[in-house]
Amino acid sequence: MAIDPYDLVDDSFAVPALPGRVVTGADADDVHGSLGADLLLQANNCVRAHGDFHLALSGGSTPLPFYRCLMVDPRFRQLPWERTHLWIVDERCVAPDDDRCNFLHIRETIVEHVDIPPQQVHPMDAHLPGAAAAYDRALRETLAWREVGHDRLDFVLLGMGGDGHTASLFPHSPALVEPEALVVANDGPTVTPPARITMTYRLLNASRFVAVLVMGASKHAMLERVARADAEDAASLPIRGIVPTGGELRWYLDRAACTGVQAP
Ligand code: 6PG
Repeated sequence: MAIDPYDLVDDSFAVPALPGRVVTGADADDVHGSLGADLLLQANNCVRAHGDFHLALSGGSTPLPFYRCLMVDPRFRQLPWERTHLWIVDERCVAPDDDRCNFLHIRETIVEHVDIPPQQVHPMDAHLPGAAAAYDRALRETLAWREVGHDRLDFVLLGMGGDGHTASLFPHSPALVEPEALVVANDGPTVTPPARITMTYRLLNASRFVAVLVMGASKHAMLERVARADAEDAASLPIRGIVPTGGELRWYLDRAACTGVQAP
């Protein structure tokens, strides 16, 4: 009897044993769908409970197709942008019109296409002196409108670099050991230039929901390392220092990141 070749296709793949929950998808569309659905659910719940939603997005290249998906996919049309405060997790110390500026891409991809009030859009002026302190102040003042205990970010989207950094928390860099500030400047030999401004562990780990989006075969080896490490290894693998205290940590991975094999 002839065997139908499609019967032999095994669609399952091994998933790295990361801390928190791991959501996987066969490809980018799949992963974006799951992440977008979780974002929509959290946003609507927060608006219902608090009247607003504090969202912090990351830069880098991985999330840009996801941001575009949020703009064009009809499933995500109902995101409550008019009730959202939009923050940035980290920024490069460059002029706001420099192509390396994270917020430039978020502005072009999201802000210019949604009905978010301008006073709820919070870029970092990372090219100006005192930018970290100013952003720290803006966060504290804005979150102070919330009841005590709810004065935290509601949803943070992080990425992961091939060296295990997240936000601009690079291996063995000074920002890793900041105990008080919510936002600091970060620089040093392990920081990929230019110098950065970044949210700290203190702020990120206080968030209600932390989503880590990691896509592509090039991140596979680091994901395996992170899965074998523990929170004590955060100095060399900063993503391992993301341990939300009262919130949820959820990874969003595509098949290529899980297997190390890039789809043709
Ligand atoms: C940045 C980021 C950074 C990013 C990782 C992954 O400003 O670069 O916020 O933490 O998420 O470096 O970057 P890619 O998505 O480009 O691989």
